[in-house]
Amino acid sequence: MALSQTLKALPAKLTSLDVMQDAPVIPVIVLNDVAHAVPMARALVAGGIRMLEVTLRTPVALECIERIAKEVPEAVAGAGTVRTPAEAQAAARAGARFAVSPGFTNAVGQACRDLGLPLLPGVATGSEIMMASEAGYRELKFFPAMQAGGPAMLKAWSGPFFDVKFCPTGGVSVNNAKEFLSLPNVVCVGGSWLVPGDALATGDWESITRLAAQAASF
Ligand code: 3PG
Repeated sequence: MALSQTLKALPAKLTSLDVMQDAPVIPVIVLNDVAHAVPMARALVAGGIRMLEVTLRTPVALECIERIAKEVPEAVAGAGTVRTPAEAQAAARAGARFAVSPGFTNAVGQACRDLGLPLLPGVATGSEIMMASEAGYRELKFFPAMQAGGPAMLKAWSGPFFDVKFCPTGGVSVNNAKEFLSLPNVVCVGGSWLVPGDALATGDWESITRLAAQAASF
């Protein structure tokens, strides 16, 4: 049986925790060519990874989200690098079912709440965790995870921020993902290694499926 057939049914309306709990790794994806979106999404799903963070860093990102949302129903397209309310709105219009931001502002938090879009806001300090928590966000992206303190930082936060869960992203790789995932306050990690630029450029979808299957088994 293909791995994709073993994925459990998702609720129509996702929560941040649904997004984080689905697989050990959320791929952080940069697409420069709309034609790559659908085969890439299918390759990740075939490997058992369906929560896909397509970053709003390229002119075609929104169109890629739209294509995935329409043509790969077994995947869940999300938008990454959401920095403004307008970007959150555009992502939702394109069919994104969750959003990830590199930092936190009340405006982005409120916009996502108004849109019903689950958001994983980025934090790197205690004050940022407190601001996001105050706004009702307790499932957070720790970004940039390695540069901002790595697993030791998460261990330190587990005391005062005992009710907060993290998705460390930034400098997470196949070599250190398991260390992050072993921490009680880490639900999943994010990383760009599942979708290498050269695999996209050459249409090497098998490699992407292999990397996804490896990540799904962490
Ligand atoms: C990003 O936003 O670029 C992510 O944090 C990915 O970081 P990585 O390339 O170190 O996985």
